[in-house]
Amino acid sequence: MARAIINANQSKGTINKNIYGHFAEHLGRCIYDGIFVGEDSEIPNVRGMRTGVVSALKAMGIPVLRWPGGCFADTYHWKDGIGPKESRKKIVNTNWGGVTEDNSFGTHEFLELCGQLGCEPYLSGNVGSGTVQEFSDWVEYCNMGGQSPMADCRRANGRETPWNVRFWGIGNESWGCGGGMRPEFYADLCRQYSIYLRSYDRAHPLYKIASGANVDDYRWTKVVMEQAGEYVDALSLHYYTFAGGWYHKGSAAAFSREEYFSTLAQTLRMDELIENHARIIRRYQGDRKVGLVVDEWGNWFDVEPGTNPGFLYQQNTMRDALVAAVNLNIFNHHCDAVVMANLAQTVNVLQAVILTEGSRMLLTPTYHVFEMYRKHQDARQLESYIETSMIGTEENKTPNLHLSASRGENGVVLVTVANLDDRQAVPLDCVLTGLGRIERTAGRVLAGRRDACNTVDAPETVKPEVLRVEASGESFQAELPPCSVAAIEITVK
Ligand code: AHR
Repeated sequence: MARAIINANQSKGTINKNIYGHFAEHLGRCIYDGIFVGEDSEIPNVRGMRTGVVSALKAMGIPVLRWPGGCFADTYHWKDGIGPKESRKKIVNTNWGGVTEDNSFGTHEFLELCGQLGCEPYLSGNVGSGTVQEFSDWVEYCNMGGQSPMADCRRANGRETPWNVRFWGIGNESWGCGGGMRPEFYADLCRQYSIYLRSYDRAHPLYKIASGANVDDYRWTKVVMEQAGEYVDALSLHYYTFAGGWYHKGSAAAFSREEYFSTLAQTLRMDELIENHARIIRRYQGDRKVGLVVDEWGNWFDVEPGTNPGFLYQQNTMRDALVAAVNLNIFNHHCDAVVMANLAQTVNVLQAVILTEGSRMLLTPTYHVFEMYRKHQDARQLESYIETSMIGTEENKTPNLHLSASRGENGVVLVTVANLDDRQAVPLDCVLTGLGRIERTAGRVLAGRRDACNTVDAPETVKPEVLRVEASGESFQAELPPCSVAAIEITVK
């Protein structure tokens, strides 16, 4: 029996809904084929966007979507992607497979997609190979309401009113594919770019996100904060989980118990990374609040055999579901520092929530975790403690349980808990202090073998089922199956 306590009298604040955000790059079959099929496609679509994908993402509660990259962002010249499609420039996607990018999905299409999804756009601008003028023009094109060269150009392309895009990323991985810069150099560029990215409407100020560190590069965060912190609203952080390491990513679907636990052990490092980067940010932020945006995270495994190595297409199993659950719990715990996070990547790439094959599609185990966690969005985080024991292999050990909790505006408490043990079910006894007697509970659970996955022929192998929850007084009890993620809603009197 594992005991847990949720203390409704203690909270770190509100869980920003954007922690449940996603990322879609011009990479492999994420945008083209996965999301955008064009109006002439036989696949049902609305103005080119796959209807099934859009409605599934809406049902999951996608709050924000980052685009167009990734590494692609620092090669992207946004003016190539506006105007009549026949005259749009065809370029080579040099980062991802050297395929032809015909720019048929550009600024208007992306913002149309966000409109259909009801989510906020997050545009990542080109610092690595673009110019200050080009980036500044993009903001003017999207956000200027009055008359100006860029606003007039937007109107000529069919959009009268500005989109008022709030989130702007100043480069991507500027230490790597985004220009191979040193933090001192990037900090100077970031200051310069920031000055020319203007808020055209006081009611819609820009939220500027500096390109942040890779994993534990704390020096990057320190230098950028020290020298450019006052020019931005947030700094990003990228942390991917591999089964072995960059050179030993491992198979997404056929993996050993050792790799299962090494993946989980590595993903748990997210907690320490956020803690340390957030501490540095706080030290240099002065009187302002500078947020942490984990705008790329998730599992990165070997591509599926026979698929293009540049397309990063991988299957998604219960192991991915646990990685998603653990990271979302960690973000919830750090809601006083993390203002946004974006899973890489939405459809058909890396730890995708949706996979497509021709006209068919499936929801991955990761999708179900996001959907089960959606009521954490904008809810008040509640402090919690859970008794755990260490499990795993000789080489890789992790705690068996991982939990977070929040209370929504309607007063309902959501407890999400992952059982990382692939062999043992764990009975949970949880007390909820500070709210009174429990009136009603409703539980759902996602469970399966550690390598269980959905395929287009068997799309419902892994899906949420009802979880039996008993309540008495201020406590509730539930049995957590091996390798599972549970979401329990509690209504108090
Ligand atoms: O998500 C795939 C790639 O990973 C992104 O393009 C880049 O930013 C990161 O290295």
